[in-house]
Amino acid sequence: MADKHVVRFEPVGIEIEVGEDQNILRAAAEQGIMLMHGCKEGQCSACKSFILDGEDIELDKYSTFALPDYEREEGFTLLCRAHPYEDVTIELLNFDEDMIRSGLPIQEAVAEVVSNDPVTHDMRHLVLRLIEPKEIKFFPGQYVDIAVPGTESTRSFSMANTSCREDGRLEFIIKVYPDGLFSDFLDSRLAVGDQLNLTGPFGVFTLREGHETDLVFVGGGAGMAPILALLRSMSERGINRKATYYYGARRRKDLCFDEELRALEGTLAGFRYVPALSEPEDSDDWDGEVGLITDVVKKHEANLKDAHAYICGPPPMVEAAMPLLSQLGVPEKRVYFDKFTTTGDPE
Ligand SMILES: Cc1cc2nc3c(=O)[nH]c(=O)nc-3n(C[C@H](O)[C@H](O)[C@H](O)COP(=O)(O)OP(=O)(O)OC[C@H]3O[C@@H](n4cnc5c(N)ncnc54)[C@H](O)[C@@H]3O)c2cc1C
Ligand code: FES
Repeated sequence: MADKHVVRFEPVGIEIEVGEDQNILRAAAEQGIMLMHGCKEGQCSACKSFILDGEDIELDKYSTFALPDYEREEGFTLLCRAHPYEDVTIELLNFDEDMIRSGLPIQEAVAEVVSNDPVTHDMRHLVLRLIEPKEIKFFPGQYVDIAVPGTESTRSFSMANTSCREDGRLEFIIKVYPDGLFSDFLDSRLAVGDQLNLTGPFGVFTLREGHETDLVFVGGGAGMAPILALLRSMSERGINRKATYYYGARRRKDLCFDEELRALEGTLAGFRYVPALSEPEDSDDWDGEVGLITDVVKKHEANLKDAHAYICGPPPMVEAAMPLLSQLGVPEKRVYFDKFTTTGDPE
């Protein structure tokens, strides 16, 4: 068995043991410590941290966009790539005090495809049922890593449902990219009854409880999945905080779960759904909002200083929405996001 070393995180004062064959992010997740991360493949920099003490840390392959050489020399590291070979102390640059200790243990599981149906022209609604184990505990808004059959790769997908306690079901909304390693396989080959291996849960895109503040959700593309999970969970638990969901699509044919979201406006007292099309055509017969989703948010919201914001979708949308929400007054640490970063090969 590989040697283990103590990794201490500051300023939170948490210590974990990490084997030399594990990366620090993964070891923390296995021990229920939820650290900030995105791609888990050394490409997005979301897990970037600073080494306060210790030198003997080796990194797996990563992108120098995520960690330029000069930053590595200054002492920065990527926790998703870092293997400690001695005891080290790490300063977390980004962490969420409410969430860091609330991790659920990650599990490996086998699941079977129950259905795999189109939900728009380029998005699929994939439903799996766990075979072994029969249940994985997760918080609404979290995701799992699904192994791409026949490869060494995994892809992350957020659950759109709130729990699999009753029936072992996991529900996903997945965008199909032409030639996408997993999504093309899903589109052209994955059949009902096929089995998939998955690991999870991961992620901190979960509803922060104990607040009565207003909520603003901003989504695009398959970013629908975890936001739908949060809204469904609010509905199940009767959380009636004032909430607005801005969802950006190009055309009417890109919208999905419209009926369910409209129905939620009836059952969740404070909830409003505001879809917007950025490139409507006459045939769309659209009388709703038009424009980029960030412009639509700007048009509707003047002051969000007492709100919490949740953003999820493709990286450019998330990157455009984050500064806007801060400008509109959402405190920086109350802007929660999941970027659907791609996980192709590092440069
Ligand atoms: C935390 C997290 C949660 C995620 N949850 C979901 C989810 O619920 N639903 C979902 O559909 N995806 C989600 N993703 C993205 C997902 O993990 C894959 O990256 C995505 O499905 C592409 O995988 P692929 O194997 O099909 O394509 P790849 O083989 O990885 O990529 C092939 C090509 O497709 C294009 N491409 C791939 N992804 C993108 C992108 N995001 N934007 C623009 N072009 C792209 C690029 O040209 C790329 O070169 C999530 C990602 C993360 C990090
Ligand atoms: S999570 Fe470590 S670089 Fe993306």
